[in-house]
Amino acid sequence: MFKNFFSIVALSFVMIKNTQAQVPVYLDKTKQLKDRVEDALSRMTVEEKIAMCHAQSKFSSAGVPRLGIPDNWMTDGPHGIRPEVLWDQWSQAGWTNDSCIAFPALTCLAATWNKDMAALYGKSLGEEARYRNKNVLLGPGVNIYRSPLNGRNFEYMGEDPYLTATMVVPYIKGVQSNGVATCVKHFALNNQETDRHSINVVVDDRALYEIYLPAFKAAVQEGGTWAIMGSYNKYKGFQNCHNPYLLNDILKKEWGFEGVVIADWGGVHDTKQAIFNGLDMEFGTWTDGLTWGASNAYDNYYLAVPYLNMIRKGEVGTKELDDKVRRILRLEFLTNMAPDRPFGSFGTQEHAMAAKKIAEEGIVLLKNQQNVLPIDLIKTKKILVVGENAIKSMIIGGGSSSLKSKYEISPLEGLQKRVGETVEVKYVRGYVGDTSSNYNGVVSANSLAEKRSADVLRAEAVAAAKDADVVVFFGGLNKSGHQDSEGEDRLGLELPYGQDQLVSELAGVNKKLVFVNISGNAVAMPWINEVPAIVQGWFGGTEVGNAIAAVLVGDVNPSGKLTFTFPVKLEDNPAHSVGEFPGKNGEVNYKESIFVGYRWSDKQKIRPLFSFGHGLSYTTFQYGKVTADKKEFTATDKVTLFVAVKNTGSRDGEEVVQLYISDLKSSLPRPVKELKGFEKIFLKAGEEKVVTFTIDKSALSYFDPAKHEWVAEPGDFEALIAASSTDVRTKIKFRLK
Ligand code: GLC
Repeated sequence: MFKNFFSIVALSFVMIKNTQAQVPVYLDKTKQLKDRVEDALSRMTVEEKIAMCHAQSKFSSAGVPRLGIPDNWMTDGPHGIRPEVLWDQWSQAGWTNDSCIAFPALTCLAATWNKDMAALYGKSLGEEARYRNKNVLLGPGVNIYRSPLNGRNFEYMGEDPYLTATMVVPYIKGVQSNGVATCVKHFALNNQETDRHSINVVVDDRALYEIYLPAFKAAVQEGGTWAIMGSYNKYKGFQNCHNPYLLNDILKKEWGFEGVVIADWGGVHDTKQAIFNGLDMEFGTWTDGLTWGASNAYDNYYLAVPYLNMIRKGEVGTKELDDKVRRILRLEFLTNMAPDRPFGSFGTQEHAMAAKKIAEEGIVLLKNQQNVLPIDLIKTKKILVVGENAIKSMIIGGGSSSLKSKYEISPLEGLQKRVGETVEVKYVRGYVGDTSSNYNGVVSANSLAEKRSADVLRAEAVAAAKDADVVVFFGGLNKSGHQDSEGEDRLGLELPYGQDQLVSELAGVNKKLVFVNISGNAVAMPWINEVPAIVQGWFGGTEVGNAIAAVLVGDVNPSGKLTFTFPVKLEDNPAHSVGEFPGKNGEVNYKESIFVGYRWSDKQKIRPLFSFGHGLSYTTFQYGKVTADKKEFTATDKVTLFVAVKNTGSRDGEEVVQLYISDLKSSLPRPVKELKGFEKIFLKAGEEKVVTFTIDKSALSYFDPAKHEWVAEPGDFEALIAASSTDVRTKIKFRLK
């Protein structure tokens, strides 16, 4: 009896003791991240580890149900939180609580040249993702704008690595401050959509390191992104979702990336390569937009049963598996299981106003003769609005970044709302482009059906333009096939749907014509000398109409600057002049090397239609003479430059002061100048501020492929302070000893 009694007591004591020990370290939020990861890893079976490394549905992968480690939920996209889709299909799940705030396309964010806007963007978008319980945002995209025909340029931040690298960091920090991971994409060299799943990119190391990698490196080393998405294309013959050069050598070894490499959807093609070449999570295989999905499709993923079988047969060990799972567990503890994680918010007016502010700051005034803009609301009694893009939704379409938004103010609505009380606003279609507005089952509000012919529409518009005080034409592209869309590059630089003829005819009957280019790309403007005012309106998101109206009537003084060069004609672009686009026989050769964008225009002395960094204001800015705190410095020193900038106009405004560096003599060919700094400053009318730039040798360096490192060569350099890449206001020489 007693023996039993004591054994029960002893047993219950052990139970109590064990119960205390039962709280696993990984649940103990005070423990260091690494301790939690190792502890959780030690508790997992091989099957559980395998399950973590591949999708279980369109946008989710398994956690560890037995251990209370949540599933991972991914969501597109860079501009807003994608509406819920069915478990294993792209089509809509039909939820009624997932209408988001759509933010401006990233190329509009970049055009603000304002790091605070990038931070606001990331924070707001991260709150939306958090509220929708997504712990990985599949964005931002930072691929370099190599050709104006690339269908996805609107999802990226332009042609310059320094601008992109600088703007992506605050976006990442903003999103991740919500306990949501960014998944910076598409790593790397995904600069076209043609043959995107198979094209092999041939590029020299200088262009790779100086142009195509810097934004990703900044995302990892300065932004601290918790995930990176491998791209579909190949480099050195390897598919980039399991490319040993990019993922093992550069990303994980050279840059010390501790996060998760997630494959683009359908980007995995081989189990062994997926195991050994740096991939951590496989998504979208078989169900990559195709209809091959089978009920057990997920078990047949390359990193699913095939991998498990290789382990069981002893063909591979579990070292690589443990490394993948450590990274995924780290993601779990930084997101789903992070202590004191905020709760997010969704579809709020606050986010809508953030989207509006970013759109307003990103809009670029390209041309403004005879002060057609801002529209004078005293004298103007009749405004004619022309063009399909005045009414067409730009939030729907374009591929995986397509959204279902809470609302969308069209340019026409924005203008009518803003001036309708005092000014008659008449609308004519002008042309017909794409009458559908449907992506994966998300359909836009207004129908675009049209029966009249192009000639009838054009005649109607020209007739109406005759007695309007101002004509505002909303044209450009529209995210439909080959018109700024994922999966389909543009077929030419020209505007589609007969817009050029219409613009010319409108200009022929009304001198006060404003052309607003709604696009994510440069377009040809053969009528450039007939049109006095031109605005780059971008794909501006939920509040686009209010933002554009505010700029057109002068409530907002435009301060955006171009993030890519507008060539006069396609042959002025290097990829189409000396490089290749979109390549042939499965390969594309970046023969232009480092001379991308303005780097090419400078080298070839080609005058662009509009330059990188160009953007006008309703006021004027005067730059003083730049000075430096030292005329020569050593590689461990820093140089500080000072330049006074004054608002010499009659209204407040913002200016983006740009710093370019010229290496006056170098042993390897270098661009004439390269962007190495920028500051956006607000100046009241008449106000003057001194802008300072502090640079070190990194601003002078180029990548030396022979040494495989960055080199700052002693010699003379020049700092150019500019209002655009072709509008240098002041410069100063200095020497690196
Ligand atoms: C798409 C895109 C990628 C997106 C993913 C999921 O094909 O390339 O940017 O995040 O698949 O939709």
